[in-house]
Amino acid sequence: MATPSVMDKLVSLAKRRGFVFQSSEIYGGLGSVWDYGPLGIELKRNIKDRWWRSMVLERDDIEGIDAAILMHPRVWEASGHVEGFTDPLVDCRQCKNRFRADDERIKGEPGTPGGQCPVCGSKGTLTDPRQFNLMFKTFMGPVEEDATVVYLRPETAQGIYVNYLNVMQASRQKIPFGIAQIGKAFRNEITPGNFIFRTREFEQMEMQYFVKPGDDDRWFEEWREQRMRWLRGLGLNPDKLRFHRHTPDELAHYAKDAYDIEYEFPFGWKEFEGIHNRTDFDLSRHQASSGKKLEYLDPMSKERFIPYIIETSLGADRLALVVLADAYHEEEIGGEQRVVLRLQPSLAPIKAGVFPLVKKDGMPEVARRIADDLRRRMPIFFDDGGSIGRRYRRQDEAGTPFGITVDGQTLEDHTVTVRNRDTLQQERIAQDQLAAYLADRLAE
Ligand code: GAP
Repeated sequence: MATPSVMDKLVSLAKRRGFVFQSSEIYGGLGSVWDYGPLGIELKRNIKDRWWRSMVLERDDIEGIDAAILMHPRVWEASGHVEGFTDPLVDCRQCKNRFRADDERIKGEPGTPGGQCPVCGSKGTLTDPRQFNLMFKTFMGPVEEDATVVYLRPETAQGIYVNYLNVMQASRQKIPFGIAQIGKAFRNEITPGNFIFRTREFEQMEMQYFVKPGDDDRWFEEWREQRMRWLRGLGLNPDKLRFHRHTPDELAHYAKDAYDIEYEFPFGWKEFEGIHNRTDFDLSRHQASSGKKLEYLDPMSKERFIPYIIETSLGADRLALVVLADAYHEEEIGGEQRVVLRLQPSLAPIKAGVFPLVKKDGMPEVARRIADDLRRRMPIFFDDGGSIGRRYRRQDEAGTPFGITVDGQTLEDHTVTVRNRDTLQQERIAQDQLAAYLADRLAE
């Protein structure tokens, strides 16, 4: 039997421990749609909260919004998505599978006798590439006809652009300022895959920063640096993070300059965040299409201009995968194998496990009281089943940074041991100091 790859092991751990499940699994699953389980939802919430805090709560120049997923269909015409948000697609006439025309597994040219299907191996059965729009369509109201088509948004950014005036007026912001949003986006990807890396339903964390034309290069640099600094602050291995600047032929039609931030996943270097100088493309297009003036009047110079936009766009699910892949470690301790998620404590779904050493002598009762007390401040897991070693291992796999054990000495002097997930060192701490001890170590 082939040895499982790191990704196989990560996917299996994610399911076993309740991070991520396949959507509708009892029906055989739905292609590239995933559900977050009890630990996964906490991890993702910690990631999103951390982003929101740094982007919105800790700054006075960025406002938050939560725009609807369904938007006026003309938004997507103005944005260029109806016409241009497409991937070239080829079909295999033999096995009926569908691929992106640039799929690396295809040998030869699709549409020619040499083009070879990567699944069934037939030659000459691949069609010519045709453009396939990635937006999901649905209908608004009871009649299913062209006039009632609406789209599930493929990015959250447009919800920010169409609200730019509303937000600016309501919050009395002046340029430069930004608008941030976290929300779902949908793309009918042709070749999704690699677990939660490329999915058909996902969450984005996007921030659009509105600046004066001419100041855009400076802000672009500023945001590029800030985003990398923030990612490093999550404790990610800096050797696995890098920038990739878009070459002229990689640049999107709206972009003057763009950098991807890439991570070295087990399946190679891939992008998970983008910083784009989108110029005045978006607001100009919406102004032309809606007829609503979207210019900014500079209160000092009395100049009028359409702001340039610097965008930072990050996938919450993709970042969750970065965090999980970076945290995953296998190691040998005292001749025994352990799997540990070295999550930064502030991101860990459970902050501490609480364990009575044995199920007698009043230890479970004391441990429960400690767990209940701490639970009011942080997510705690109480476990009194199995050997203490096994209980530690289970929490190591969940990424829980601390293990608190109530033992014989606790009953005498009200101290407990606190085991550190990474160093495996144990300290004796007074019960009434536990909350402060943990709080100190949980702050990033
Ligand atoms: N508004 C700009 C924009 O949407 P993008 O590069 O298409 O740019 C931004 O997407 C981020 O959204 C990506 O860096 C990635 O993290 C995430 N993302 C995009 N498509 C995704 C998919 N199919 N599955 C999971 N995440 C995705």
